[in-house]
Formats: sequence, C-alpha cells, structure tokens
Amino acid sequence: MAKILVTGGCGYIGSHTIVDLIENGYDVICVDNNARSNPGILDGVQKITGRSVKNYKVDLCSYDDTFAIFQENTDIKGIIHFAAYKAVGESVEKPLMYYENNMSSLINLLKCVQEFSIPWFVFSSSCTVYGNPDNSLVTEETPQKPAESPYGATKQMGERILTDFQLKSAATRCILLRYFNPVGAHPSILIGELPIGKPQNLVPAITQTAIGKLPRMTVFGTDYDTRDGSCVRDFIHVSDIAHAHTLAIRSLESGHQEAGTEIFNLGTGNGVTVLEAIKAFEKVSGQKLNYDLGPRRAGDVVAIYANNDKARQSLGWDPRFGIDDMMRTAWEWEQKLKADSQLFASAPPQLN
Ligand code: WQD
Repeated sequence: MAKILVTGGCGYIGSHTIVDLIENGYDVICVDNNARSNPGILDGVQKITGRSVKNYKVDLCSYDDTFAIFQENTDIKGIIHFAAYKAVGESVEKPLMYYENNMSSLINLLKCVQEFSIPWFVFSSSCTVYGNPDNSLVTEETPQKPAESPYGATKQMGERILTDFQLKSAATRCILLRYFNPVGAHPSILIGELPIGKPQNLVPAITQTAIGKLPRMTVFGTDYDTRDGSCVRDFIHVSDIAHAHTLAIRSLESGHQEAGTEIFNLGTGNGVTVLEAIKAFEKVSGQKLNYDLGPRRAGDVVAIYANNDKARQSLGWDPRFGIDDMMRTAWEWEQKLKADSQLFASAPPQLN
C-alpha cells in the first residue's frame, strides 16, 4: 500500500480525503499543527475506516521539523497538501500572515520533496484563482484575473511555484485541484466541517442560524445581474472533492499523465444561487431560515461555476451528490454537533 502524507489532514477537506484514501487501499499519515483544526476529527476517521491515523503535530513553516517527518517516513510516495490559512476576509486584514504561512509551508514541503525524491504531489487550489471571470462557466484554460484577496493570491502563487518547481524536478509529477465551493459532511455524519468562530462561508452560516447558534444570517446582495439577484456558486459535496484526490493519486501512480503538472476543476458544473441554496436547505430541513436581504459583500465574485469535463475524462471523476444531499448532510452534522457538545469540546483557539 503506497504511503501518502496528507498535510492539514485534521481539517475539513483533509479529513474527508484521508477517509477516501484509506477506503481505496492507501496507507496514510497526517501532519497538522492543529492551529486551525481539531485532532479529534481523526477519531471520526477511525470510526469510519477502522484505521487509526498518526498525526505529526508540526508547523510546516519549520523546515527542520518538516524534514524530520520525511527522515522518519522514507517510504512516502505521495503528498496531498491542504495545510494553509483559508479565510478570505481574514487574509485581507492580515496579508503578511497569509503570505508567510501559506507560502513558506509550501516551499519547505517542496524542499523535502526534492531532498527525498517524492514522485507524486497534489495541491489544494481553488476557483478563487479565476478572480471575477468574464464568463461564469470556467474551464482550466480560463485566463486568471487578479485575485480578489491575499488568500486567493496565495493560491495563484502556489500554482506558479509548483509549476516552476516541477519543471526543474521532472521526477515529481504534480496535480493542482481547483475546488469550487466545498460543502456538506460525510454521509456517516461522523466527520464534517468545524468552522472556527463566526462562520464566513454560506452553508455553515445557514446551519448555525437554523440550529440557533446564530440569531439570523444575511444574504449579501440581491441586486446582482443573476436569475434571482443573488450570487451564483458551484457547491460541491466534500466527499466528492475527497474522492477526486484519491483519483488524482491513482492517476499519478499509473504514470499516464501527459504533462508534468496537470490542473483540474472540481465542481458539479451546476450554478446555484445563494437564495436557491437557502430554499434547498429549507426543503430538506423542513425549517424556515431566519435571514435578511443585505448589501453586497466586498470581494464577492458575482457568478462562477465549473466546466468539469477534464476531471471527468482524465480522472474518471463523477460527482455523486446533489444540492439536497449537501444540505441534508450539512444539517445532520450541525444537529450532531449540538446533540454532542462534548464531541469537539477542545476546540482550537478562536481566530485572533
Ligand atoms: C458564497 C456566497 C456570499 C455567507 C470562498 C473562497 C473559496 C473557498 C470557499 C476555500 C457568496 C454568500 C456567504 C453569508 C451570504 N474557500 N454568503 N451570507 O466566497 O464563494 O468562496 O469559500 O476553499 O476559495 O473564496 O464562499 O461561502 O463565503 O460565499 O450571502 O453569511 O454566499 O456573499 O455570494 P465564496 P462563501
């Protein structure tokens, strides 16, 4: 069983990806400093898979500590790199913290990839690299606009660093995965999203309002040039995103990759408006949501959704979950968190 190192594996997408990798026969280790994640999520991974996953509680900004992981695990074949700060609003307030954390961790990791000749590298990228596209339906070839935030800029730079690195390190093949809007929870409802502080993203804002953790939520802007005036997004179930990572590792393992670095959009291909997402939630939860119609949020892209043909054809990816499944699993997870408040009592420090 090929050993895969998952960075940020205690996070939302990382933990779901570890489940999928184990279920598809891979041996997995995790590195996560738990600054923004809860190590308890790996207990949920163990309940689902029956396998315990070792976490190295290491900050990838420390080259020496990162190097030591590879010295101890000389059989690592692949790396999936999730570990990064990802709050768009916070990145605007603290740009240096984002550039330092997201870029130096990636560079330290790549120095180790070079030193230990690791053959496969998968990078967690984002649709945010497109900025505000002229055409809402984007392919991997859609020209990138200036990123709307320092967070988005770290994803654009990360892609460029990897592409240039790979050109000089041909023995390592890379895949960049551009997520659209990951939402929902694993169907077992044993793992899910653990937002820190007040949720910035739409779906946790919906579920926390519905459960009563938030008094109400606001729809940011209903005067856009879209079918109902609210923004359009491509919501994609986190388990579909997770499986795409396993397929990316399998593609690298097969050696069939044409170019040294390949890029894939991970979205359903369906654009859903914010108001439609709220209606889907109300339908599956049977609850009326307490929300206001408010002003636009600075930096928001009006409409974006994925052309996912490339991932379908090259990776054999076939996203399974629809918007109702996404809302249902998100809601069931929120209800689970409320019912078992001790589940993740030792929550990580709040955003400072
Ligand atoms: C979606 C829509 C909001 C909250 C960001 C990152 C992206 C990825 C996902 C990491 C927007 C509206 C939201 C609320 C609202 N991050 N909204 N009320 O901004 O599309 O994408 O998160 O992988 O890289 O850029 O996601 O969920 O914040 O917003 O009306 O309380 O929901 O205005 O139109 P976004 P989001």
